[in-house]
Amino acid sequence: MTTPTQKLMVNGKDFSLDADPNMPVLWALRDILGLTGTKFGCGAGLCGACTIHVDGSPMRGCLTSLKQVQGKQVTTIEGLEAEKLKQAWLEHNVPQCGYCQAGQLMSAAALLTTTPKPTETQIVDAMSGNICRCGTYPRIKAAIQSASEA
Ligand code: FES
Ligand code: FES
Repeated sequence: MTTPTQKLMVNGKDFSLDADPNMPVLWALRDILGLTGTKFGCGAGLCGACTIHVDGSPMRGCLTSLKQVQGKQVTTIEGLEAEKLKQAWLEHNVPQCGYCQAGQLMSAAALLTTTPKPTETQIVDAMSGNICRCGTYPRIKAAIQSASEA
Protein backbone atom coordinates (compact mmCIF):
# COMPACT_ATOMS: atom_id res chain seq x y z
CA MET A 1 0.00 0.00 0.00
CA THR A 2 1.38 3.42 -0.89
CA THR A 3 1.50 6.22 1.67
CA PRO A 4 -0.81 9.08 0.69
CA THR A 5 0.75 12.42 -0.23
CA GLN A 6 0.04 15.21 2.22
CA LYS A 7 0.23 18.80 1.04
CA LEU A 8 1.66 21.12 3.62
CA MET A 9 2.04 24.90 3.41
CA VAL A 10 4.64 26.08 5.93
CA ASN A 11 5.96 29.62 6.27
CA GLY A 12 4.76 30.45 2.77
CA LYS A 13 6.29 27.40 1.07
CA ASP A 14 4.47 24.34 -0.32
CA PHE A 15 5.59 20.83 0.54
CA SER A 16 4.38 17.37 -0.51
CA LEU A 17 5.05 14.70 2.09
CA ASP A 18 4.70 10.95 1.82
CA ALA A 19 3.27 10.63 5.30
CA ASP A 20 0.33 9.24 7.21
CA PRO A 21 -2.50 11.81 7.25
CA ASN A 22 -2.84 11.18 10.99
CA MET A 23 0.78 12.12 11.67
CA PRO A 24 0.98 15.09 14.05
CA VAL A 25 2.18 18.24 12.29
CA LEU A 26 4.90 18.54 14.94
CA TRP A 27 6.45 15.27 13.75
CA ALA A 28 6.38 16.39 10.12
CA LEU A 29 7.89 19.78 10.91
CA ARG A 30 10.73 18.45 13.01
CA ASP A 31 11.51 15.03 11.55
CA ILE A 32 10.70 15.49 7.87
CA LEU A 33 11.15 19.20 7.16
CA GLY A 34 13.93 19.80 9.70
CA LEU A 35 12.13 22.78 11.26
CA THR A 36 13.24 22.06 14.80
CA GLY A 37 12.39 25.44 16.31
CA THR A 38 8.99 24.06 17.32
CA LYS A 39 9.60 21.91 20.37
CA PHE A 40 8.29 18.60 21.63
CA GLY A 41 7.43 18.83 25.30
CA CYS A 42 4.61 16.70 26.66
CA GLY A 43 3.18 15.40 23.38
CA ALA A 44 -0.24 15.54 24.99
CA GLY A 45 -1.49 19.09 24.50
CA LEU A 46 -0.53 20.24 27.98
CA CYS A 47 2.61 22.36 27.77
CA GLY A 48 2.39 24.57 24.66
CA ALA A 49 6.01 23.98 23.58
CA CYS A 50 4.73 22.84 20.17
CA THR A 51 2.53 25.89 19.48
CA ILE A 52 2.23 26.79 15.80
CA HIS A 53 -0.21 29.01 13.91
CA VAL A 54 -2.75 27.46 11.56
CA ASP A 55 -4.33 30.18 9.44
CA GLY A 56 -3.13 32.60 12.13
CA SER A 57 -4.61 30.82 15.14
CA PRO A 58 -2.45 29.14 17.78
CA MET A 59 -2.68 25.34 17.69
CA ARG A 60 -0.89 22.46 19.39
CA GLY A 61 1.39 20.87 16.80
CA CYS A 62 1.45 17.64 18.78
CA LEU A 63 -2.34 17.27 18.61
CA THR A 64 -2.94 18.60 15.09
CA SER A 65 -2.76 16.04 12.29
CA LEU A 66 -1.53 16.61 8.77
CA LYS A 67 -5.04 16.02 7.43
CA GLN A 68 -6.35 18.85 9.63
CA VAL A 69 -4.04 21.38 7.98
CA GLN A 70 -4.64 20.43 4.35
CA GLY A 71 -5.12 23.69 2.42
CA LYS A 72 -4.23 25.82 5.44
CA GLN A 73 -1.26 28.08 6.19
CA VAL A 74 1.04 26.76 8.90
CA THR A 75 3.44 29.21 10.51
CA THR A 76 6.27 28.14 12.78
CA ILE A 77 8.71 30.12 14.87
CA GLU A 78 11.07 30.11 11.87
CA GLY A 79 8.50 32.08 9.86
CA LEU A 80 7.12 34.32 12.60
CA GLU A 81 7.32 37.97 11.58
CA ALA A 82 6.43 39.63 14.90
CA GLU A 83 9.48 41.92 15.01
CA LYS A 84 8.25 44.20 17.81
CA LEU A 85 7.51 41.19 19.97
CA LYS A 86 10.88 39.58 19.28
CA GLN A 87 12.60 42.87 20.12
CA ALA A 88 10.69 43.13 23.40
CA TRP A 89 11.69 39.53 24.21
CA LEU A 90 15.34 40.50 23.80
CA GLU A 91 14.99 43.72 25.79
CA HIS A 92 13.40 41.87 28.70
CA ASN A 93 15.90 38.96 28.52
CA VAL A 94 12.93 36.61 28.62
CA PRO A 95 14.48 33.16 27.94
CA GLN A 96 16.34 31.09 30.48
CA CYS A 97 16.88 27.55 29.15
CA GLY A 98 14.83 28.56 26.10
CA TYR A 99 12.98 25.29 25.60
CA CYS A 100 9.46 26.71 25.94
CA GLN A 101 10.18 30.00 24.26
CA ALA A 102 9.17 29.26 20.68
CA GLY A 103 5.76 28.22 21.92
CA GLN A 104 5.54 31.27 24.17
CA LEU A 105 6.32 33.60 21.29
CA MET A 106 3.80 31.92 19.00
CA SER A 107 1.05 32.27 21.60
CA ALA A 108 2.02 35.86 22.38
CA ALA A 109 2.07 36.80 18.69
CA ALA A 110 -1.38 35.30 18.16
CA LEU A 111 -2.68 37.29 21.13
CA LEU A 112 -1.31 40.59 19.81
CA THR A 113 -2.79 39.91 16.38
CA THR A 114 -6.31 39.52 17.75
CA THR A 115 -5.87 41.90 20.72
CA PRO A 116 -3.20 44.54 20.00
CA LYS A 117 -3.61 46.20 23.43
CA PRO A 118 -4.32 43.35 25.83
CA THR A 119 -5.04 43.88 29.50
CA GLU A 120 -2.97 42.05 32.07
CA THR A 121 -5.82 39.57 32.54
CA GLN A 122 -6.04 38.96 28.80
CA ILE A 123 -2.29 38.31 28.67
CA VAL A 124 -2.43 35.88 31.57
CA ASP A 125 -5.43 34.09 30.06
CA ALA A 126 -3.92 33.86 26.58
CA MET A 127 -0.60 32.55 27.91
CA SER A 128 -2.03 30.17 30.49
CA GLY A 129 -1.59 27.14 28.21
CA ASN A 130 2.16 27.68 27.84
CA ILE A 131 4.23 26.22 30.63
CA CYS A 132 7.72 27.49 31.49
CA ARG A 133 9.65 25.29 33.87
CA CYS A 134 12.16 28.11 34.37
CA GLY A 135 9.44 30.46 35.60
CA THR A 136 9.94 33.27 33.10
CA TYR A 137 6.27 34.28 33.39
CA PRO A 138 6.86 37.81 34.78
CA ARG A 139 9.27 38.61 31.95
CA ILE A 140 6.95 37.11 29.33
CA LYS A 141 4.14 39.33 30.59
CA ALA A 142 6.38 42.41 30.66
CA ALA A 143 7.62 41.75 27.12
CA ILE A 144 4.09 41.38 25.77
CA GLN A 145 3.09 44.61 27.51
CA SER A 146 6.10 46.43 26.01
CA ALA A 147 5.37 45.11 22.52
CA SER A 148 1.75 46.19 22.81
CA GLU A 149 2.83 49.71 23.73
CA ALA A 150 5.56 50.01 21.08
S1 FES B 1 4.26 19.09 23.14
FE1 FES B 1 2.36 19.79 22.42
S2 FES B 1 1.38 20.68 24.13
FE2 FES B 1 3.21 19.80 24.94
S1 FES C 1 12.79 29.22 29.56
FE1 FES C 1 13.17 27.23 30.32
S2 FES C 1 11.24 26.22 30.16
FE2 FES C 1 10.81 28.28 29.72
